[in-house]
Amino acid sequence: EKGGFKHFMLKEIHEQPDVVKNTLMEFSEIEKVVGKFSKFKRICFVACGTSFHASLVGKYLFETLLGIPTDVLLSSEFLFSEGALDKDTLVILITQSGETADTLKALKIANKKSETLAIVNVLGSTATREADHVIYTRAGPEIGVAATKTYVCQLVSIYMLVSAMSGNDKLLAELQKVPDHMKQALENEDHIIEIAKKYKDANDFFFIGRGFSYPTALEGALKLKEITYIHGEGYAAGELKHGPLALIDDNVPVLAVVPPGESHDKTLSNIEEVKARGAKVIAVGSSKDEVLKSESHDIMGFDGDISEMLSPIPYVVPLQLLSYYISVERGIDPDKPKNLAKCVTVE
Ligand code: F6R
Repeated sequence: EKGGFKHFMLKEIHEQPDVVKNTLMEFSEIEKVVGKFSKFKRICFVACGTSFHASLVGKYLFETLLGIPTDVLLSSEFLFSEGALDKDTLVILITQSGETADTLKALKIANKKSETLAIVNVLGSTATREADHVIYTRAGPEIGVAATKTYVCQLVSIYMLVSAMSGNDKLLAELQKVPDHMKQALENEDHIIEIAKKYKDANDFFFIGRGFSYPTALEGALKLKEITYIHGEGYAAGELKHGPLALIDDNVPVLAVVPPGESHDKTLSNIEEVKARGAKVIAVGSSKDEVLKSESHDIMGFDGDISEMLSPIPYVVPLQLLSYYISVERGIDPDKPKNLAKCVTVE
């Protein structure tokens, strides 16, 4: 049932190029959903955990390509923002399981005042029955507790939604190249195993990124915490100097997410800051980026061109693999981390 892989998580990481392709086939369904939308002036994403990180990418996309003001709220905090809901707001709930209690509670509240759209992986789940509109991700069942393939499919669904709403065919065309980029990270697995062995005994890690790479940094840190029990802190790279830089020294590796593009040079200067404090830097970026290579101690690189805007999908793959292999090196079962359930059904 694990298809020859040691754990479900590893199998699910490897399934990602295929499930992304399956999700891409949903574009015409998404166009139908968009055709039913009323007019709205604001978007509000609501989600927990990994689905919250997918929502953060959604915010930057909606604001960059559609100019629609977009908020992202944690489901458990949504209650406190109810006052700003109105009929001009589209509330988008992202939930893999469709059963997360906090998200279902938020959906109930949102349904009273606004139009709701749920992006869900599990067919027929509660969220799909209660939301006004539904988009299905086509990740297939996810058994590992840590969300991997469902995250990348959520991202693909959000990109397609924005593409359908804006008529941006270029984005849609570029999305088709994403599965091949993801395969590159999977082909680099041996190199990632070496990096995992090198850093497995760290007690703290920082993950930094800007713009479209900020949610990737948060997601990398969450994966690390969940399945390796190492403290991983995800931070907007530009925020480091507003406090947490005090924690950086030669015992704290820093993983920097640095795709080529607008944020590149600024994140590089953050790399210099952490290196000046003794930190070892692991970078995720382009294999052609000679400056990044010379500035970092280890690099998990991608060949070929993918835009900064689309980089969140392939760039999360090496981070998933790094946490997976650190978990295995530390003798942990990544499929069943302690104290965590696949679906959180209590508020
Ligand atoms: C992280 C993880 C959790 C879930 C969160 C939301 O790997 O699995 O953080 O993302 O519990 O779950 P859903 O998406 O089912 O609402």
